[in-house]
Amino acid sequence: MGSKICVLLTICGILLGVAHLNSGKMDKQADEDLPMVYEYFRNSSSNVVGLVAEADGFKLNGKKLKIMSGAMHYFRIHPDLWRDRLKKLRAMGANTVETYVPWNLHEPKMGEFDFGNGTNDMSMFLDVRRYLQIAQEEDLLVLFRPGPYICTEWDFGGLPSWLQRDPEMKVRTNYQPYLDRVKIFFDKLLPHVADLQFTRNGPIIAIQIENEYGSFNAVSKEYLEFLLKLYVDHGFTNETLFFTSDGVGNGDRGTLPGLLYTANFQGDVDGQFGKLKELQPDKPVMAMEYWAGWFDHWFENHHVLRPGAFVDTLDGILGKWDGSVNLYMFHGGTNFGFMAGANTRGDAPFYDADVTSYDYDAPLSEAGDYTTKYSLGKSLFELYQEPRLKPTEMIPESVKRAYPSVNLQEYLTYDDIISQVPTTAKFTAQRPISMENLPMNDDSGQSYGYIIYRSNAEFSNGTNFEAGPVRDFGMLLIDSQLQPTGFQDDKYWINAIQNFSLSVGSAGNHVLDLLIENTARVNFGNDNHFLQEKGLVNGTYKLNGNDISDIEIIALEFKSAWVKGLSDWKPITNQTTLQAPVLLQTTFEITEEPADTFLDMSAWHKGIVFINGFNIGRYFRAGPQQTLYIPAPLLKQGTNTVTIFEQFEPSNQLIFKDVPNLGPLKKDTWKICKADEEIKGNELIESSNATSTN
Ligand SMILES: *[C@@H]1O[C@H](CO)[C@@H](O)[C@H](O)[C@H]1NC(C)=O
Ligand SMILES: *[C@@H]1O[C@H](CO)[C@@H](O)[C@H](O)[C@H]1NC(C)=O
Ligand SMILES: *[C@@H]1O[C@H](CO)[C@@H](O)[C@H](O)[C@H]1NC(C)=O
Ligand SMILES: *[C@@H]1O[C@H](CO)[C@@H](O)[C@H](O)[C@H]1NC(C)=O
Ligand SMILES: *[C@@H]1O[C@H](CO)[C@@H](O)[C@H](O)[C@H]1NC(C)=O
Ligand SMILES: *[C@@H]1O[C@H](CO)[C@@H](O)[C@H](O)[C@H]1NC(C)=O
Ligand SMILES: *[C@@H]1O[C@H](CO)[C@@H](O)[C@H](O)[C@H]1NC(C)=O
Ligand SMILES: *[C@@H]1O[C@H](CO)[C@@H](O)[C@H](O)[C@H]1NC(C)=O
Repeated sequence: MGSKICVLLTICGILLGVAHLNSGKMDKQADEDLPMVYEYFRNSSSNVVGLVAEADGFKLNGKKLKIMSGAMHYFRIHPDLWRDRLKKLRAMGANTVETYVPWNLHEPKMGEFDFGNGTNDMSMFLDVRRYLQIAQEEDLLVLFRPGPYICTEWDFGGLPSWLQRDPEMKVRTNYQPYLDRVKIFFDKLLPHVADLQFTRNGPIIAIQIENEYGSFNAVSKEYLEFLLKLYVDHGFTNETLFFTSDGVGNGDRGTLPGLLYTANFQGDVDGQFGKLKELQPDKPVMAMEYWAGWFDHWFENHHVLRPGAFVDTLDGILGKWDGSVNLYMFHGGTNFGFMAGANTRGDAPFYDADVTSYDYDAPLSEAGDYTTKYSLGKSLFELYQEPRLKPTEMIPESVKRAYPSVNLQEYLTYDDIISQVPTTAKFTAQRPISMENLPMNDDSGQSYGYIIYRSNAEFSNGTNFEAGPVRDFGMLLIDSQLQPTGFQDDKYWINAIQNFSLSVGSAGNHVLDLLIENTARVNFGNDNHFLQEKGLVNGTYKLNGNDISDIEIIALEFKSAWVKGLSDWKPITNQTTLQAPVLLQTTFEITEEPADTFLDMSAWHKGIVFINGFNIGRYFRAGPQQTLYIPAPLLKQGTNTVTIFEQFEPSNQLIFKDVPNLGPLKKDTWKICKADEEIKGNELIESSNATSTN
């Protein structure tokens, strides 16, 4: 109870402090006279000097800069909304935006590069140059973090799935075939953005080498040196500051002499920056990832970081420690398609996949709305800004609309779906082959989606089928009928070998399908966690103790062009006769300008949703996430099509909402006041209406 008062006092204290300082120092006219970022830092046309980290702070073009940055990833935001989100970041008082670069999207097949000029499902998200240019147009500097490993709750930490085709692959190490692929990618990426360095009239002031490398067990300094050299070879020399970011508990494992060391943390500023100062006494302190919120796995509750804790920590970083910050995230966005990542865990099923939303309880919500944290962060940014900047306008939030509910109109059965899979995605084999090793996509294998191992075998009631481990989510069908398997939710299993006593009406030939969903590759961990082929990976696949041979393998990639081209849809005349897995489709009309909306999937079980053919991500009854965000630019005036692949139990209706539901709140244990360790639960959050995301 003392806790609540403590938090409110903290927030009020900060706000009073801000109000006090602001009222004394400035008025509107004075605001108007303040400079914009580029006006201030680059108004000498000759000899622009890049960012340097000196004992008394960062200097850009010789002038002191306190970096106030927000993380925002172009690949998680519809490109039509990049400018909207960047304007909102600058209006918070920030001077910088930070982004990662997802190698897996930019090189979807080995040797095929996509910088927004491809025809892949995510191509429209990939014009990284344009994103950086818009950031500059919106008066923001850029911290650039191309990895190539980026963690970020993104499939395989941004590494391409086809790296798994090499059984000896050791990512993030000095393994030569890995280095070769990194070089090929960076040889494309770096020339593409080299002229966007600050010293060459662009926005990039600093570049990160690798990512939290100190947390990796198999560290190789040679690998870090290799990455550094690639930048230097491409003209990123001393014009641009190089840095690494790590939990300071890892010491200097993840960095090299001469690189700026920055820290990643959520609380305990004094402990974190104290350690950072010990490691690096003569440099300014910076939180490269101050975790302003957190992400969710399926089966958990929705994580939030209370505004009180946010204010305490941010105030400590910027005020007491006079440090620089990158809010991770300022705006999280969405893991569209199959892009969400996963973590390993210590107990069964040793694996936790991430939800579709990357709202992150960030200052700007998934749909771009201002939250309490936004206002609190704005007050602190304005209080500690160096240099003081001309304020920019907080543009209005988007309109949200709950479109009228619609009934599903047509469907394709499981057999219909399989019959429309092209022959280039169907294979025969004697032993199961993993997704990545299928001879498809110009020998880059199958990256994402589902895979079916089918055998047409002679068996009778009670025959023992033993299979697994499945990577990641297995379903068993006999003659296209989904079988109860006695595991989670009675119908599926994860990551283990299982026995089934098959249940059939008569002995004879039956079609046995093991349908496996790749629910995401792990994005954080040690070297053994980065071996993660999907499907059946050298696993067990047996009938009555004998290996099954003569396997048909069907890759169900659910690529946009295929989904759009599906035909022979049948009208739904009797909902109760629909059997999952099933594809369902309907259309709905939008008469006015399309608006942001949220699809409420709480009456459904598990699957994926396509809006006009674009995969907006997974839904799952396990929660916490209940609604899927549909940004307005995915909709159009006129007729819109929604397609749903439901794995278990289809609902008959689509319900739109004008507010998100990311699920019940996770009891968060972050301390608000160091003296008070008792605060737990969401009482405070709800009573102060502190989050907009619930
Ligand atoms: C350069 O920036 C300084 C500091 O903001 C300002 O006083 C000066 O007017 C600027 N000069 C030009 C040419 O914009
Ligand atoms: C896209 O542009 C990059 C960089 O210019 C180029 O290497 C690549 O081949 C292009 N990709 C396509 C699909 O045209
Ligand atoms: C960068 O390196 C060049 C060549 O070594 C040197 O002339 C220049 O002064 C350096 N610039 C900075 C900002 O250190
Ligand atoms: C499945 O059954 C077979 C045959 O009875 C047995 O050898 C095997 O250990 C069982 N596997 C599991 C995972 O229980
Ligand atoms: C199949 O076997 C199970 C378990 O032994 C039994 O309960 C079921 O009735 C059998 N079904 C048929 C069609 O024989
Ligand atoms: C499959 O597993 C066996 C036994 O562990 C091993 O000898 C073999 O190399 C593995 N094959 C592949 C392709 O991983
Ligand atoms: C729908 O199908 C179920 C199951 O076959 C049947 O019992 C029911 O009568 C059907 N309803 C209509 C309206 O046809
Ligand atoms: C929280 O929101 C509810 C509903 O909008 C409102 O009635 C209540 O006064 C708010 N509480 C606080 C502390 O702002």
